[in-house]
Amino acid sequence: CGDVMKLQIKCKLQGNQYIVDDVKFKTYGCGSAIASSTMFVDMLKGKTIEEAKLIKDKDIADALELPPIKLHCSVLAEESITKAIDDWEDKLCHK
Ligand code: FES
Repeated sequence: CGDVMKLQIKCKLQGNQYIVDDVKFKTYGCGSAIASSTMFVDMLKGKTIEEAKLIKDKDIADALELPPIKLHCSVLAEESITKAIDDWEDKLCHK
């Protein structure tokens, strides 16, 4: 739809695994996209990277009770989580 979501994650090593320590977002879009962004901040914080990868658009849509016409807004949120984690893993591997 042209809406844009930018997600940044800060991860820290806890024990033998990384957890999502902080999450920031910038969303230029509809109210549902902004609500999805706020929801994933709560869903991501404190999760391990493997747990974070399991968060799906349906989880976000269900938590927000998004109507069918707004389901694509939560898809944008899932895609931003996936890309942020991919980027973080890529940077970790090239340290
Ligand atoms: Fe585009 Fe909601 S209408 S993300």
